[in-house]
Amino acid sequence: MSNIVTVIAPVNIAVIKYWGKRDEKLILPLNDSVSATFDTSVMCAKTSVSTHPDFVEDQIWLNGKEESFSNPRLQNCLREIKSRAVAEKTITEDVLSWKVHVSSENNFPTAAGLASSAAGYACLVSALAKLYKIKSDVSSIARLGSGSACRSVYGGFVRWHAGSKPDGSDSIATQIADSNHWPEMRVLVLVVGNTQKKVSSTVGMKISSETSELLKHRIQHCVPQRTEEIIEAIKNKDFSKFAEITMKDSNQFHAICLDSYPPIVYMTDISHSIVDLIHKYNDLSGETKVAYTFDAGSNACLYLLKHDVPKVISLIKYAFPSTSPENFITGLSVAKEEINT
Ligand code: PMV
Repeated sequence: MSNIVTVIAPVNIAVIKYWGKRDEKLILPLNDSVSATFDTSVMCAKTSVSTHPDFVEDQIWLNGKEESFSNPRLQNCLREIKSRAVAEKTITEDVLSWKVHVSSENNFPTAAGLASSAAGYACLVSALAKLYKIKSDVSSIARLGSGSACRSVYGGFVRWHAGSKPDGSDSIATQIADSNHWPEMRVLVLVVGNTQKKVSSTVGMKISSETSELLKHRIQHCVPQRTEEIIEAIKNKDFSKFAEITMKDSNQFHAICLDSYPPIVYMTDISHSIVDLIHKYNDLSGETKVAYTFDAGSNACLYLLKHDVPKVISLIKYAFPSTSPENFITGLSVAKEEINT
């Protein structure tokens, strides 16, 4: 067997956010979510995996630094991959007993609210699946690493269905539209801070699920309708509708963080200045030309159409004169590629 495999996987950024789990162990969400998967030239993770009879232990290096392999999510992904390999009879027992080495790197800040774990686990699981020659869908295994990783397994616009079965078998990601569907769509990531977030999404979700009344309201009364509406907007390439829902959902997610007890604060003053700027720009333009969305961090992800990119970059540079090129991960297309090797 080939015993080294390298895979590149893209980041996805949600426009309807996943926040809250109904099962912590299986990583089953409380609500459906929707995202766009980026072109791998924008932001991606690259992972190499290998297995060899001489390896004495499972080992992992993240951005060149050795980390512990005892992380339960990592263990769950490897265990599930191996059990699929057994079920699909793809490799022999002795190969299965060999240890694995994993080396992964991102071309963007890790754990700074830029979906690094989504790309990382999608990449890891896809690489392991290739190493062990697994044929079946691996998005549900990526989910065991990081919920949002199941969406990075597909390109284009993706929906993660919360599902309702206790075993999670219906909690899967499906593609809404492929990467060629909306070729004018662009993303512009504004790196406001590249330090690791103070509250991990796992801890944040737990605090919010246990304490936020707004979270309950959102799940029952907001997400179902928004999900249907944004899918319609994506299908019809209705940018202003897409943008409005994206911004409202980001705002509601951060409102839930503040409604949690103790409150969780991911956005900074600069993040809020970006929000103000985008609203002013949209107002002056007479139509919604740019949407912002913020994950569990201070960095802004702007969705916009290709012809507006130069103007918006100039606007950001004007409003934030100290901005340097490192603050931009510029706006190539959304979702041109799916995972490739
Ligand atoms: O998959 P996690 O555990 O990294 O959580 C992701 C949570 C958000 O990024 C805030 C929202 C989302 O849907 O990606």
